[in-house]
Amino acid sequence: MWSIARYVSMLRKITAQLGFLKVNMQRVMNKSPLINGWPLFWCLTLFAAAFMVRASVLSDLNSPEGISGMIQYSVRWAVPLIFLITATSAMARLFPNTMTRWLMRNRRYVGLSFAAAMAWQGAFIFWISVGHPDHYYTNIYFLRDELEGSSGYLFLTAMIVTSFPFGRRHLSPAHWSVLHRAGVYFLWAYPFSVYWWNTAYYGSELWLDYLFYGLGFTAFALRIAAWGKGRWVGQHATGGYGAGGKLLIAAGLLLGATGSLWQEPVSAVLLAPAPSQTLELWLPFWPFQPFLPLLFLGLGTWLLTPNVDPALPKTQVVT
Ligand code: HEM
Repeated sequence: MWSIARYVSMLRKITAQLGFLKVNMQRVMNKSPLINGWPLFWCLTLFAAAFMVRASVLSDLNSPEGISGMIQYSVRWAVPLIFLITATSAMARLFPNTMTRWLMRNRRYVGLSFAAAMAWQGAFIFWISVGHPDHYYTNIYFLRDELEGSSGYLFLTAMIVTSFPFGRRHLSPAHWSVLHRAGVYFLWAYPFSVYWWNTAYYGSELWLDYLFYGLGFTAFALRIAAWGKGRWVGQHATGGYGAGGKLLIAAGLLLGATGSLWQEPVSAVLLAPAPSQTLELWLPFWPFQPFLPLLFLGLGTWLLTPNVDPALPKTQVVT
């Protein structure tokens, strides 16, 4: 009996301590100048820049291979940030807590740090295309990749300009939101598909490729889950819709983990018609193989979450 009382009092102390820690954590996240606003941007940017300078010093930047290596290296500092940005609003809706609120408040600065990391890649791309045009046009240039990459940089530039008041005032709030949402999707889609091809097609032996693919997949899956939560009215669909929804979600997850097993036959089917082969030469991401598992997840979530009753107030939406 005595030991139970002691146990309960110990639990109370731990709970009180946890409450204290939570309040302190909130205070640190909200008030600490280093991890909020522009200082956060500079911390992330200078941290990445230090590694970039170190890698540049260790690389042979006179050779095209050395510069190409830096293109690859620099983008790896940008990729986690765009995946984080993609998932931020979804995490805030799914798991409202101090951390996700902090992320929401600072996503502009995380976004600008992503842009700064991409500027390194842009600089190395410029360097190789001007300094070694033969190598660039023989080994790197491919129309579709060029269109994808250039569209990515156009989106990025427009997003940077309109993240400042002088650029923002040229857009209505609705247009601003369309631009930034489309830009985030595109800039997520590019690296996500690169890592899907690296793992599912080339069978990469690099653990980083699998990690980045998994992070990219999770980021978008979280967006789908948050969208499902917004449609949620307290109960799952039942019967055929419910079963179909669960089946599609399970299939989406399975397909997401087994791309190497299905990419070849699925690509063959999708690229069998001649127009599809033409589109593959220039249309970014066509025929969208990396995104098929996520399409299954989205369809499954749609079936599983019955339509929101227009009479009911919508869940608070944070985009
Ligand atoms: C015209 C613009 C672009 C060009 C010419 C370009 C070129 C390159 C080159 C040469 C590589 C190195 C490939 C290798 O050595 O294996 C690379 C890698 C990569 N690029 Fe780009 N790129 C462009 C735009 C972009 C954009 C907008 C993104 C979006 C975030 C992006 C994401 C990536 C990723 C994820 C990798 C793979 C890095 C790794 O292997 O981990 N690129 N790019």
